[in-house]
Amino acid sequence: MARSIFFCLFFFLFISWIPKLTTSYPLSTKSRWIVDEKGQRVKLACVNWPAHLQPAVAEGLSKQPLDSISKKIVSMGFNCVRLTWPLDLMTNDTLAHNVTVKQSFEGLKLFEDVLGIQTHNPKILNLSIFRAFQEVVSNLGQNGVMVILDNHLTTPGWCCSDNDLDAFFGYPNFDPLVWAKGLSKMAFLFRNATNVVGMSLRNEPRGTRDYPDLWFRFMPKGAEAVHAANPKLLVILSGIDYDTNLSFLRDRFFNVSFTEKLVFELHWYSFSDGGGAWAKHNSNDFCAKIIEKVTHNGGFLIERGFPLILSEFGTEESGVDVSGNRYMNCLVAWAAENDLDWAVWALTGDYYLRNGPGLQHKNLIFHPLTGLCVTNNPSDNSPTLRLGPCPKSEPSTFNPKEGNLWINKMCVQAPNVAGQKVKLGVGSMCSKLGQISATKMHLSFKTSNGLLLCLDVDERDNSVVANPCKCLTKDASCDPASQWFKVL
Ligand SMILES: *[C@@H]1O[C@H](CO)[C@@H](O)[C@H](O)[C@H]1NC(C)=O
Ligand SMILES: *[C@@H]1O[C@H](CO)[C@@H](O)[C@H](O)[C@H]1NC(C)=O
Ligand SMILES: *[C@@H]1O[C@H](CO)[C@@H](O)[C@H](O)[C@H]1NC(C)=O
Ligand SMILES: *[C@@H]1O[C@H](CO)[C@@H](O)[C@H](O)[C@H]1NC(C)=O
Ligand SMILES: *[C@@H]1O[C@H](CO)[C@@H](O)[C@H](O)[C@H]1NC(C)=O
Ligand SMILES: *[C@@H]1O[C@H](CO)[C@@H](O)[C@H](O)[C@H]1NC(C)=O
Repeated sequence: MARSIFFCLFFFLFISWIPKLTTSYPLSTKSRWIVDEKGQRVKLACVNWPAHLQPAVAEGLSKQPLDSISKKIVSMGFNCVRLTWPLDLMTNDTLAHNVTVKQSFEGLKLFEDVLGIQTHNPKILNLSIFRAFQEVVSNLGQNGVMVILDNHLTTPGWCCSDNDLDAFFGYPNFDPLVWAKGLSKMAFLFRNATNVVGMSLRNEPRGTRDYPDLWFRFMPKGAEAVHAANPKLLVILSGIDYDTNLSFLRDRFFNVSFTEKLVFELHWYSFSDGGGAWAKHNSNDFCAKIIEKVTHNGGFLIERGFPLILSEFGTEESGVDVSGNRYMNCLVAWAAENDLDWAVWALTGDYYLRNGPGLQHKNLIFHPLTGLCVTNNPSDNSPTLRLGPCPKSEPSTFNPKEGNLWINKMCVQAPNVAGQKVKLGVGSMCSKLGQISATKMHLSFKTSNGLLLCLDVDERDNSVVANPCKCLTKDASCDPASQWFKVL
């Protein structure tokens, strides 16, 4: 979707537990999980890498050697790239085979990039557009990175708006038959590339003719075309309304001839919820409401036994976008809770990977704002609560009924005064915490004189403190995220 920053340094920490696993391809599905050949769960932790813009060359090759970019992707913890491509790459042989990378950039008067590619990727400069695309896929493969080939649009260029000529099936620039043929060709050409694990059939169907009937008529044709050409691939389907709406699958069956390959994808940006809307509402109320919407429009597929990839999300990472910041905390909590496969637009993060299908019991109190987890502070004489990396934290458990928060056999003993650190102890001193607000992400307790306080984080040292509960409802002027703790 429309995001102009490539390699925007958007630091976003997911619970980072990264066991080394050798994935054996191809991938398939087992109820809501994506699994490898041995039936082990493979959690896709992808970054979107755009290659669909005017030059029709993967972005960034004029800045860094391809191999460095691939290695950087790996070092940041991604195991997969959602690589975008324009349909013309398969349907216009002149573009694909008779234009070199150099010519493509020169045609757009991007001479500096020609020099940059000559410097950093001289081998690519004289390749045809398609050969250059193959190089990217193959280099990612050499670095152990899985690839989802995402047909992003028809003609190389910016995406996406309602008025695009290729916004939906039947639009002037989106002939469903040409599209299915192009998908088939792409699937076939990469049949030997084991790291190509799936194809995303069409990014963000949208526009005024955006109704489910056409979706149901043509999506199966694309799906069958891909599967026939390359039965190893996961077949990944976008919803309507810019891939924010798959709700029509609630009561209608998607009929294809194959099984164990079908995956759905969903996009969620802060602007999907209305421009600037997060800043205008109370975060607890709004987060709870939007999660209900997202669940209704796509999240429900998990319960129906289909994998769902949150294949585009992300925000301005400099912190100035209040709506984006609030949305992100809500999204991260939801994605972690449901253990989703995901692809960030467009870069950076960390991930956790699971050995076998099944939500594992995690025993974590996750703090979405920081991506850290609640743990104890071992250096203290009288132990206090603080945030730390999730994998290394002592298991913490919270039973909503008894209301006690346990960390490594010690319980939380909340202070009587706002601003003080939260201590850990043993015995009868355990505080009773409640989960309050519409999101239930505030952990609250009453002091001896009846004051309601919430657990909060002192950002100076990441210690957990008790503070007056922030904007529990209605108030849109403040952001409660520092007080959000997701019990996982
Ligand atoms: C390919 O490019 C050459 C010149 O570089 C041109 O003569 C030829 O007609 C082109 N072929 C196609 C199919 O576009
Ligand atoms: C095919 O690609 C070439 C090179 O980019 C372009 O000049 C031509 O207009 C394209 N043809 C069609 C039918 O889009
Ligand atoms: C690319 O091709 C041009 C001729 O079109 C040639 O002068 C140049 O040396 C080639 N560059 C590389 C790196 O092969
Ligand atoms: C794929 O592998 C088959 C058999 O190993 C070979 O015949 C074919 O040429 C390969 N195709 C591509 C596109 O590399
Ligand atoms: C999602 O699409 C359905 C049509 O299948 C439509 O009725 C519904 O209003 C849409 N939901 C939203 C939130 O736009
Ligand atoms: C699915 O499609 C096949 C043929 O394409 C048909 O025989 C079958 O009845 C369909 N199933 C459903 C549930 O629509």
